[in-house]
Parts: sequence; structure tokens; C-alpha cells
Amino acid sequence: MCGIVGYTGQRQAAPLLLEGLQRLEYRGYDSAGLALVEGDRLEVRKLAGRVAGLATAIRRQAAAGTTGIAHTRWATHGAPTERNAHPHVDCGRQIAVVHNGIIENAEALRAALEQSGHHLTTDTDTETLAHLIEDAAGDSLEARVIAALDHVEGTYGLAVVSADDPGKIVVARRGSPVLLGIGDGELFVASDASAILEYTRSVVYLDDGDIAVLTPAGYHVIDSQSHVQVRAVDDVAWDLEAIALGGYPHFMLKEISEQAETVRSTLRGRLLFEQGAARLNGLNLTPEACAAIRRIVIVACGTSWHAGLVGRHILETLARLPVEVEYASEYRYRTQLSLPGTLVVAISQSGETADTLEAMRAARAAGARVIGLVNVVGSTIAREAEGGIYLHAGPEIGVASTKAFTSQIVALALLGLFLGRQRDVLSLEAGQELACRLAQLPALVTQTLALEPEVQRVAREFVGARNFLYLGRGVSFPVALEGALKLKEISYIHAEGYPAAEMKHGPIALIDADMPVVFVAPRDDVYQKVVSNMQEVKARGGRIVAVTTEGNGELRGLAEHVFRVPATAPLLSPVLAAVPLQLLAYHIAVLRGCDVDRPRNLAKSVTVE
Ligand code: AGP
Repeated sequence: MCGIVGYTGQRQAAPLLLEGLQRLEYRGYDSAGLALVEGDRLEVRKLAGRVAGLATAIRRQAAAGTTGIAHTRWATHGAPTERNAHPHVDCGRQIAVVHNGIIENAEALRAALEQSGHHLTTDTDTETLAHLIEDAAGDSLEARVIAALDHVEGTYGLAVVSADDPGKIVVARRGSPVLLGIGDGELFVASDASAILEYTRSVVYLDDGDIAVLTPAGYHVIDSQSHVQVRAVDDVAWDLEAIALGGYPHFMLKEISEQAETVRSTLRGRLLFEQGAARLNGLNLTPEACAAIRRIVIVACGTSWHAGLVGRHILETLARLPVEVEYASEYRYRTQLSLPGTLVVAISQSGETADTLEAMRAARAAGARVIGLVNVVGSTIAREAEGGIYLHAGPEIGVASTKAFTSQIVALALLGLFLGRQRDVLSLEAGQELACRLAQLPALVTQTLALEPEVQRVAREFVGARNFLYLGRGVSFPVALEGALKLKEISYIHAEGYPAAEMKHGPIALIDADMPVVFVAPRDDVYQKVVSNMQEVKARGGRIVAVTTEGNGELRGLAEHVFRVPATAPLLSPVLAAVPLQLLAYHIAVLRGCDVDRPRNLAKSVTVE
């Protein structure tokens, strides 16, 4: 999951490419590089480390050219070094390639290329592409790229320039997202729209198998048989402000702090108070289709999988349908049982996570109906699903997902309300009650965010902890998992989330005076059970931090610190309980001096398997 950018036009490309890479750095940030074509000269500049380092190097020694491609990397093949950084070139250093994805038969290609005399100098899979294009026959760069890709197995979003073809960029897509930006007398390439929003809002999303040919004079899209493909020009809804820090020290804190607004935006225009129902036109689910559903399978990864676990409680309660929640990476390789009436819900913030995309495709091939719950408009999962719900949470830049999690839960509640009423298994009164509770959520999130100073105090107390345990029951168990994931991701402290009752079956052995234990314990129908689990931890010297419902004074003797969040419907309590856990992870990571928005070894959208 790297970021690629390209430009061809009248302006000097380097500053535009560097600006674009900065915006894509959340996709991968272990090395960066660019290639520029000026006349018949190709110049490549790259280094290990951040885009800022590359920008400094180019400020020191300018690089000229009005056509160029650039890359910020998340290493899959070959360590993150200058040598392995993109762009990669051919033997003659006439062709340069930047690539997002994995060439699965790279080893075989490398052996064949070296046998035929090519000298490959890096440990990467991508370098084979530059040499394949060098080898390929064809009367144009695009013809040679098409011929080269004929040998390639795997995924790619790539861009190619050549000193023999000044002004031209050839772009290809299979499996990894890439789009074109249409400017006035200039054209852009990017992994996502945030890289080019400063220059244009008009974008063309490429489909798998597309090859685009860009010159300052214009562009066209063809397939591997060189047949012209017609692709729509879309308008990107959000603006630059949405992808700026807006005065916050980190995108993660900005995105945590804007959750009242993002929850409101997920709800906007979707609550039908009188009917006690939800309007979700994008689902394309007719009443007949709703009635025909017999089971729901949720496929997702990471934080989205945790939202799926909350969704199981919501959909089973509101729609009275059995729900399975599957790790997409496991589900895609399981035997697909085509059971009639299966609705598969693919949950993904980015809409590009390879495992979730492939799980969705596998389910579809097995005859299931597939809908998406996605944040990024125009993303692959959104375009391939038969219908879906956009979160409208705005761009999420921080690698650790926060606002998408709360909006995913709200969207799942809307889906539950919709199906429950459509299937006539949820009464009008219950529907109206839930619609009101949902409408109250933004204000309750604002109240919950006011806990930040308290959370910061507790963060100072536990900044030195080496391990954490997060516990919850029922709908709060996934929140415990999410709290643990947030802490792991950005502070690198080992943390585990567990169903509170499971503790006695093993993890309780971990409890001692050095083990902070965070309980997610809203006052719901399993609250008393959780209190018993707290007593078991307390009895073994564990240090308890609890998230519970406002007005609950009971936990004073048991927990050292208690975060009280406003009361809401039990199924919606995860939206509020998640906030102090997001803040706790954030403040501990900041106090430990971690790079909160660019945590080590991670990337925002995992577009490779
Ligand atoms: C969460 O903070 C992580 N960034 C990661 O687990 C993420 O949730 C996962 O990669 C799924 O991403 P998606 O929602 O974009 O599919």
C-alpha cells in the first residue's frame, strides 16, 4: 500500500509531485522517490525515509521536467532502503516505473530477465516491470507496457515514463486503486484524490484492466487489446480543508474531535422519525429482497472487523437475522457455501482493503448478494458492491481509524433499523425510539469528548505500562478489542482485548499490580456480570480503569479511574465508550513520543494481501 503520483503539463512537475506525495504519505512512508523527463533526459531521485527528506534534497539540487512520476513506499519486497525505493529503471535508464501492489511471479521474471542479460540491482518485485518493458516489442510506450504486463501475475496500480517518449505517462490498474486528475491543459495520476485535490476535483477512476495514456494534449483509456474504454469523469465532494490538520497537532486527534459532526453526517437525511425507519436508497434493497434475506455475513479487517462484531448484536436484535462476522483474509480462502438468502456486508473505511475486496468477490461468485459499508467515495469496494451505505465521515488520514469506527456502528444501526422495519420484525414504536436515540448521538459524543482532560491525566499514569488488558461483555467486547488495537497501533504497548468472562479461562494469570485492565462497562443487561469480573481482577491486584455510564457511582471502590459517558440505547453505547479509549491510546502515544499519524510498520489502506 504505497502512494503514487504523476503529472504531465506545462508546469515544473517536481513541486507538484512532492506536494502530492506528502498527502499520500499515510499510505506508506518508509522511502520515497520521483522520476522526471525533460527532453530526452530521464532523471531519478530517491531516498530512504520520509517525503520531506526527498523535498529537501530536491530543494538543494533542483530537478527539472514537466513530466514526472513519484512514489511513497510501504515495503513488501526488499527492505526500505534507497536502492529499493521507487522509481525503478531498466538497464538503459530510459524507462522508470512506480508501482503499488505485488508482482507475485517476480522471482521467475527476475530469473528469466537475468538469464537474458538484464542486470537487476534491487531486491524488489517492481524492478522486473521496468526491464520487461525495456524488453517488450511495440511501436509505442503503451504497447510495450501492455506486452510487458502480459507476463505479470499479481496486483498493480502503476505509472511509467520514458525518455524516448517525453510528455507521456502510461498508467495501468489491476487490483490496486489509481485514478486520473483532469486539469486545464495538464493531467495528474494518483492513488487517491487527496494527492491532487489542490489542482483539480475532476477525477477518472480506472477499473481493473485499464491502461491510460496521458500527454499534455489529453488522455485516453484502453484495454489490453487497445480497445478504447469510456470512463466517467467524477467530481470529488470534499475539499482541501478536510485533509488539512486544521490547527490540531495530529490528524488522529482532529478525527477523534470531529466525531460529533461525522456521526451527524452519517445520519443526515437517513432517519424517518414518523415511520420509525431509515432511508438508505444506496442499498438497492427492495422490500422483496429484504424479505428474502436468511442470513447476514459481515466481512472486514482490523477496526472495521470490530465494528462488524458490534453490527452482529445490532442486526440480530433489530432485523432478527443470524449474523456471522468473518475476518476477510480467512473468509476469502474458505469453501464458499452458496446458501440462498445470504447478504454479505463488506465493511471498509478505505474501500480498497485487498482481503475485504477479495472476500466480497468470493461471496459474490458464490451467489451471495453483496453490499458495502464504505467511507471513501468511488473506491473499488463501493463501485463493485451491488449497493451500500457511504459513511460520509470525510477523509480519514490518521492511520489509526477512529471516526470511521463510530460512523460504521451508526451505519450498522441504520441498516438494522432499515431491515427491521422492512422485514416487519421491528415495531413502529421501537423504530421511533431508536431513531430518536440515534439523533441524540452527536450531542452525546460532544459531551463524551469533554472527558479528554481526565483521560490525559490517566494517560500520564500509565505511560510506562508494558502491557494492557481490555475487557468487555456483549456489545462492549468489540469496544474492548478496539481499545486494545488503538493502543497497540500507535503506542506499541502490547495490549489484548478479551470477553470479560473469558478471563477466568486463562488471561487472569496475567493479572498483577503492573497490569492495567480497562473495563468497558456501561449499565446494560450484563453490567452486574462485568462488576463480578472487576472484583476478580481487583482481588489479584490488577489496576482497573473503567468506562461506564454517567451517574454510575458504584465503581469507586473497584476502579482507580472511571470515565463516565452519557447514557444511550445499549446497542449504541459502543459509539460513546470508544471515545475515551481512542483518547487514552492517543495521549499515551503522544507522551511516549510516538509518531501518532504514521505509526511504524503500518499503512492506512492495505491494498495488498
Ligand atoms: C485501524 O486503525 C487500522 N488502520 C486497520 O486495522 C484498518 O482498520 C484495517 O486495515 C481495515 O481497513 P479498512 O476499513 O480501510 O478496510
